[in-house]
Amino acid sequence: MTALLAAKDLAAGYDGHPVVHGFDLEIREGEVIALLGPNGAGKSTTMLTLAGDLPQIGGTVEILGQATTAPLHRRAKRGLAFVTEERSVLMGLTVAENLRLGRCDIARVLALFPELERLMNRRCGLLSGGEQQIVTLARALARRPRVLLADELSLGLAPLIVKRLLQAVRQAADEDGIGVLLVEQHVTQVLRVADRAYVMRRGRVVLSGDAADVSARVTELESSYIVEQQDAAGAADPVSQ
Ligand SMILES: Nc1ncnc2c1ncn2[C@@H]1O[C@H](COP(=O)(O)OP(=O)(O)OP(=O)(O)O)[C@@H](O)[C@H]1O
Ligand SMILES: [Mg+2]
Repeated sequence: MTALLAAKDLAAGYDGHPVVHGFDLEIREGEVIALLGPNGAGKSTTMLTLAGDLPQIGGTVEILGQATTAPLHRRAKRGLAFVTEERSVLMGLTVAENLRLGRCDIARVLALFPELERLMNRRCGLLSGGEQQIVTLARALARRPRVLLADELSLGLAPLIVKRLLQAVRQAADEDGIGVLLVEQHVTQVLRVADRAYVMRRGRVVLSGDAADVSARVTELESSYIVEQQDAAGAADPVSQ
């Protein structure tokens, strides 16, 4: 089966200076993949480059087996959706108006998020942060993209909402065959819904495999995050070196 989205030996970064090196990934139909790693590891840089928001420095990105350097709006036409922690809803409009503007399949929205039914006529500005993010995700999923890239969708939200967003992503992958790449700080929660996971450190993938295998090494991972933070603190403090 051709991958929906693939990266091959990708180099990504800013102003011609790569901060991500040798990144290889394939997202297949119905697969949920977690991209993990400490702050500054290169997760967002990778996501922006896969989405076409940041030009790649080396290697290739392929959509359905075809290499592309197209910007995000053209990748979106080929079925790529990109969501971040920013709530991409219009606050002055109601939930229903936001969904209509997004040309969403309302029946699909309600199948994925029945809790939105009672909120349809409420202005998005009056919703909680978690509810606004549910609308953001509902809009993205109900357009039936082939691939969803989500960078810290649930940043700063309560654990129950995080769980709800992740469940909906899993459901859309299972029922609609959407391939998903998720960057999440909630490592344990995301590994419960993911099929596979990649762990990055300092711009490179240092561990990848089935979510269950990566999950079994989560303590080791978390301690590597802490070491990373200590390294950063040490670098900033020459006395401690
Ligand atoms: N606009 C930018 N210009 C130059 N360097 C940047 C820019 N944005 C990020 N970087 C650098 O690229 C590296 C990777 O950053 P990135 O944002 O991809 O990390 P991340 O894994 O998403 O971290 P976090 O978990 O904090 O979101 C870091 O060293 C960061 O300082
Ligand atoms: Mg980031």
